[in-house]
Amino acid sequence: MISPDGVESAVDGNGASDSEPLLDVQDLKKYFPVHGGILGRSVDQVRAVDGVSFRLKRGETLGLVGESGCGKSTTGRAILRLIEPTGGRVLFDGQDLKELDRAQLGAFRRRAQIVFQDPYGSLNPRMTVGSMLAEVLKVHGLGETGVDRLARVHELLEMVGLHTEHTGRFPHEFSGGQRQRIGIARALAVEPEFIVCDEPVSALDVSVQAQVINLLRDLQRDLGLTYLFIAHDLAVVEYMSDRVAVMYLGKIVEMAAAQELYKNPRHPYTRALLSAAPRRDPRAGPVRKRIRLSGDVPSPIRPPSGCPFYARCPHPGKDEECRRLAPLLVEKAPSHLAACCKDPMPTDGA
Ligand SMILES: Nc1ncnc2c1ncn2[C@@H]1O[C@H](COP(=O)(O)OP(=O)(O)OP(=O)(O)O)[C@@H](O)[C@H]1O
Ligand SMILES: [Mg+2]
Repeated sequence: MISPDGVESAVDGNGASDSEPLLDVQDLKKYFPVHGGILGRSVDQVRAVDGVSFRLKRGETLGLVGESGCGKSTTGRAILRLIEPTGGRVLFDGQDLKELDRAQLGAFRRRAQIVFQDPYGSLNPRMTVGSMLAEVLKVHGLGETGVDRLARVHELLEMVGLHTEHTGRFPHEFSGGQRQRIGIARALAVEPEFIVCDEPVSALDVSVQAQVINLLRDLQRDLGLTYLFIAHDLAVVEYMSDRVAVMYLGKIVEMAAAQELYKNPRHPYTRALLSAAPRRDPRAGPVRKRIRLSGDVPSPIRPPSGCPFYARCPHPGKDEECRRLAPLLVEKAPSHLAACCKDPMPTDGA
């Protein structure tokens, strides 16, 4: 499912040709074993990520969208080596992550961080925010003395819009939005260059979402951060991202500059997702007629051999070829990749 040339030109179209990408993901795969029988042997595999390729240049944000279970989090975690990929390569700043020794992996973990959807679940309820952040600094050998580390803790809290008085408070003493700010401060503690934001605002009220999104954007501008931004909400992704990749059943089925993807979706799945998304900005273009997808997402255990979207595809021109042949992710327009053999479906106005 890779078209290395296509991916290359997609990135070139976004201006990455003049510099090496910070992140270069090549044909990434993660298959989880499925255990069965009384002996609990591995009987099958879940193809959670099945050949994902993209590049990210420094300071860029790639949005990653798709239905629940399509492999977004697994992609992020496999890139960060929080889980071991089954196949493919991930180059970070030109270095193959598979070849890193322990010390080098430790250094990589300072350069690449993750912010989770549920900060409460990932914060130790028995530690104050100050001691938790100081611990992160200590583990990574940052700050010579306790006084240095406390000064840095105060700095981190202020960076994310909290106050030094919050240092001695426990996670349950914060609101959801404030807890997510703490999750962001924890990621920033090690001065990373790249952050996987895995649905960082999905659990928050809409009014709070905007504040956290704006914080992430301000931090990106001030610190030159590079983001892989995972989300369900297409409006949030459009606002945050330079480019957007749409995932379906472990594969990227469409990738383009954010505005281009939202204006001219080429894959019927993207069109269906967009038609179901609430419009926050009426100036963004015509309201799309709702496309209802029939059927369920096929199982990632034995995915279909042809187009993974065939069974649910509403394209009037879908045919036997779609059922048999897996479409390649190829360039349909400059820097716009899609994995569909058919012409885009006609656009429909209101
Ligand atoms: N540790 C695991 N063991 C077995 N299967 C797993 C594991 N983690 C994820 N999966 C499976 O891999 C597939 C992709 O899961 P993943 O969490 O990456 O999806 P997602 O796109 O992030 O979904 P969501 O939007 O719900 O967060 C799913 O079918 C899931 O059940
Ligand atoms: Mg997820």
